[in-house]
Amino acid sequence: MKSSRDSLILIVGAGPVGLCAGIALLKDGLRVTLVDSGSPGAGWASGGMLAPLYEMAADPAYSENFVQFALESARLWQEFAAESGINLQSPTLFLARTEIEVEVLESLAQRAAKLGLEVIPTDIPQNMQARMAISAPSERALEPRAALKSLVAQFCALGGELVLGQAVSLAPHRLSLVDGRTLTAQAIVLAHGFGAAGMKQFVPALQTLSPVKGQMVRVAHMQLENPVVRAGRLYFLSRSNGLVIGATSDPQAPPETDVDLDPILALLAEAKALLPPVAKAAVIESWAGLRPDTSDHLPLVGHSGVEGVYLATGTYRNGWLLAPAIGTYLSQLISGKTSDSVLMKLLAPARFTS
Ligand code: GLY
Repeated sequence: MKSSRDSLILIVGAGPVGLCAGIALLKDGLRVTLVDSGSPGAGWASGGMLAPLYEMAADPAYSENFVQFALESARLWQEFAAESGINLQSPTLFLARTEIEVEVLESLAQRAAKLGLEVIPTDIPQNMQARMAISAPSERALEPRAALKSLVAQFCALGGELVLGQAVSLAPHRLSLVDGRTLTAQAIVLAHGFGAAGMKQFVPALQTLSPVKGQMVRVAHMQLENPVVRAGRLYFLSRSNGLVIGATSDPQAPPETDVDLDPILALLAEAKALLPPVAKAAVIESWAGLRPDTSDHLPLVGHSGVEGVYLATGTYRNGWLLAPAIGTYLSQLISGKTSDSVLMKLLAPARFTS
């Protein structure tokens, strides 16, 4: 019989990436334990956007290989959502408020056509101050808090174990927790977003990880006809418990999740300019999260350089979108079933150290 170290995969972080990786590994027949600190992470704080067209394909900075990876993950989400009972909201309405945003949407429509993604020129909703509108049926969003619960249920139903604990140090095949416990495993995966930066003294590639603070607001009793509306970096998400307005983006902010008044006021002013009824809405919640960014804005997925330790973080604005494809790829890497040199080159942590 194999020892527990030989058969166990330990994942740090029960966010979308950790959970999707855990589910993929369990489905591949491995034994998995997830260690989570219990504090809400970036996945909980996020808008839950599954938007490969708007976030990646429309941005010329992203390579074709990465766009294809993101599109594959969006496709996997449809299977995942059906299995886990997660509701995917669509279509997404893209709005342009300025001449520059009109040009951006026009080029997004051209890119969509090349990728075979449907986009439909449409009327600007009556209550919105914009110049151009496009509807994109394949751009979706999910409700993160409900989706996390569904993924945890699926992980546990597949036989995964959840452990509450805060990881503080690392050695080959060995993870120590703040309460003094030490866990050993065949492979340890650091999937706890910007929290993984706390391990940078053990894993040099993690020195590239930086926080990009994002803040959101929820207002009561507002639902829009289009469940997801985007204009520039502003978005409105109609949820059962109100309208979520996102999101600020501050790479200079300290790595704390306090809500700061000035960025929230600027976000609400921008929201009110696009959708004037926001002025009369009641703010019922605001919160913040830290997007885990890297210097090339691409994830860190693969061997960390420390024996038996892998990384699955650095997902920046797209943790939810990329989680299923990262989970599948990571499971194949750990089981030695992939030699995908394209993904290895694109995502390997070693690109920052070699
Ligand atoms: N994916 C949207 C955001 O990070 O705000």
